[in-house]
Amino acid sequence: MLCTAISAALLSALPIWAVAEPLVDCFFIFGDSIVDNGNNNNLVTLAKSDFPPYGIDTPNHRPTGRFTNNRTIADITGELLGFKDYSPPYADSHNANLLPGINYASAAAGIRDETGQHLGGRISFNHQLRNHQDIISRIVNFLGSNESATTHLNKCLYFVGLGNNDYINNYLLPLSYPSSRTYTPDQFAQVLIQQYSEQIKTLYSYGAKKVVLYSLLPIGCAPNEIAKYGTNGALCVENINAQVMLFNSRLRSLVDELNSNFKDANFVYVNLFDLALSAISNPGLFGFKVTNCACCGVGPNNGIACIPLEVPCQNRAEYLFWDAFHPTEASNLIIAQRSYHDQSLNVTYPMDISTLARLQRAS
Ligand SMILES: *[C@@H]1O[C@H](CO)[C@@H](O)[C@H](O)[C@H]1NC(C)=O
Ligand SMILES: *[C@@H]1O[C@H](CO)[C@@H](O)[C@H](O)[C@H]1NC(C)=O
Ligand SMILES: *[C@@H]1O[C@H](CO)[C@@H](O)[C@H](O)[C@H]1NC(C)=O
Repeated sequence: MLCTAISAALLSALPIWAVAEPLVDCFFIFGDSIVDNGNNNNLVTLAKSDFPPYGIDTPNHRPTGRFTNNRTIADITGELLGFKDYSPPYADSHNANLLPGINYASAAAGIRDETGQHLGGRISFNHQLRNHQDIISRIVNFLGSNESATTHLNKCLYFVGLGNNDYINNYLLPLSYPSSRTYTPDQFAQVLIQQYSEQIKTLYSYGAKKVVLYSLLPIGCAPNEIAKYGTNGALCVENINAQVMLFNSRLRSLVDELNSNFKDANFVYVNLFDLALSAISNPGLFGFKVTNCACCGVGPNNGIACIPLEVPCQNRAEYLFWDAFHPTEASNLIIAQRSYHDQSLNVTYPMDISTLARLQRAS
């Protein structure tokens, strides 16, 4: 399939409703390129986005290290929670006010340490957790005691979204990684969830009480995978999505297990997989016209990133994918809004993010 950029139609900015004071005291973000906001800028890696046309729709039209044209899901979720500023990247935390939260996310990072290594530097989830320990010790110093730091950390919301790269930049690359020869898809999903579960328990032991866990995306629908494997008449590469679903169903069960084992904490599952698939199946309902081609990085191979300085598609609000792997801001808005207010629980389980944020509020 050949993707070509279609033009016309204006970019419509959806208004974001923000509350006067944040619903939670702080917002910490762990993840991959879906929410990286600059942590890879100073790393030696191919997983970078600090060049145009990334960031083309930001107020100053500059790249920031986000893998999209403007805001990420974490940025928009932070706005919905009532934050006026985005949680800064850990890489820029030296002079930052740490109390409202930090973003540790890193493109190409995974649950497994080796994930993404063929691309160069990246900050794995284990490393992100060590960076969080560093921030915690700085918060302890600032607030003067463990107790006050713990009280503060208990009142934060934690965004956790890893695992996409353990497929894209590990299991699905047999020439670079042995995992697909070592494990069947079912075993790999199990091994990943086992490790993820330990990592999430570590985060809990660092004081996290409100944790949002994002499912993997339907990776088989990414323009890069479609260009690589073809879809055989389907909308997406079905066998890749089937592998991803093995992980997602276990992650949902893990949320049940965590909620029953840790009664003083709440864990929420966000089903990005089905939300994205419904947008791909019914693009018009979501305001999209193009769901199988990227807005930038367009070419015979649907390269993994935008080509530096290339001119992207103009009608960005009509595209689900910004580059061959990452959603446009238009998609990020839908995801963030539908997971924040979700009374019918179509996307979130067992409660939506606004309900989680309001729980046990200190008066
Ligand atoms: C980009 O994000 C900013 C907030 O950082 C927002 O004010 C602006 O409207 C967005 N731009 C577009 C074109 O949506
Ligand atoms: C503070 O926390 C650290 C790490 O958890 C621990 O080693 C230390 O003993 C604690 N100090 C106090 C005074 O509780
Ligand atoms: C949620 O799902 C129900 C059916 O399960 C559907 O009728 C409803 O329109 C959905 N709501 C949203 C906001 O998508």
